[in-house]
Amino acid sequence: MRVQAFAKINLSLRVVATRDDGYHELRTIFQSIALHDTLTFTRRRGAFALTADDPACPSDDTNLIWRAADRMWKASGRRGAPRDVAVHLKKRIPLQAGLGGGSSDAAAALRVFARFWRVADTAVRDAAVALGADVPYFLEGGTALGLDRGDLLFPLIDTPPAWVVLVMPPFGVSTKEAFAWWDQLAGRAGRAGGLAAPKLARGSRSSAGGARKAGGSGPAFEVGNDLEEAVAARHPEIARIVRALRAERAVQAAMSGSGSAVFGLFDRRADAARADGALASKTRRTLLTRTLNRSKYQRLAAT
Ligand code: C5P
Repeated sequence: MRVQAFAKINLSLRVVATRDDGYHELRTIFQSIALHDTLTFTRRRGAFALTADDPACPSDDTNLIWRAADRMWKASGRRGAPRDVAVHLKKRIPLQAGLGGGSSDAAAALRVFARFWRVADTAVRDAAVALGADVPYFLEGGTALGLDRGDLLFPLIDTPPAWVVLVMPPFGVSTKEAFAWWDQLAGRAGRAGGLAAPKLARGSRSSAGGARKAGGSGPAFEVGNDLEEAVAARHPEIARIVRALRAERAVQAAMSGSGSAVFGLFDRRADAARADGALASKTRRTLLTRTLNRSKYQRLAAT
């Protein structure tokens, strides 16, 4: 069985507060994009096995696919370690990019294992929450509002279709680190441990481009990312890429999630293709893709 695991971008990401459990309370708008990994599941006798075509991608029991297998195996009432399935991962979503690749693979794997081993939907949702804050989103897809850790989800009306240029700088960012950098910045702004520093939020909001441009058919809400300023303080390349995408007439441009990928939204494919060519360099990889609405996501990601 073969399934596609689609990436996401965060059209907007606001850090609302810090929480006692070390997580941050968010208000984020997720958007699915057509870029995807492909997972192939083969049922055969023997120990569970995971292989990946990208040597940079871990294929041991730290991989969320492996952890998804473990959880579904146990949820089905079986004992010991999962077995009798081999998974091959064709990795196309860049790692440590804020595009949700690992989380999307995990959600795809949860769905497939739940079918193989007859696990109820409620157990699948519980496992998704346990595997990571972004994983539950990938059980739904499309345009969705995420509250709490980003895992309390509300489907939104699909945004108008847009072309997406993704720019990957030559470094990745760990999610944990990005939030720690945000904490430091918010702490300096004098509001550590409480509500998000208003000054910080406003600053990154305006630097992220503000509201939709007149005449554009991009998203009818603000695009911007509160983590962008904190990550760009360590990696100025992020801010340079955002500026370069705007100079290429992106309707909107911002860092996705905790980075390091930056996205630009375009109404017309030709404009997106031009920006894709202009932004690519020896040190920056670019990808041209498009948004994916919920019904398409659910059809294409179905098991
Ligand atoms: O849930 P996940 O494993 O993807 O999160 C990785 C790390 O990112 C967490 O350990 C936490 O430090 C940070 N995080 C956060 N607030 C969120 C989501 C993630 O602080 N809402």
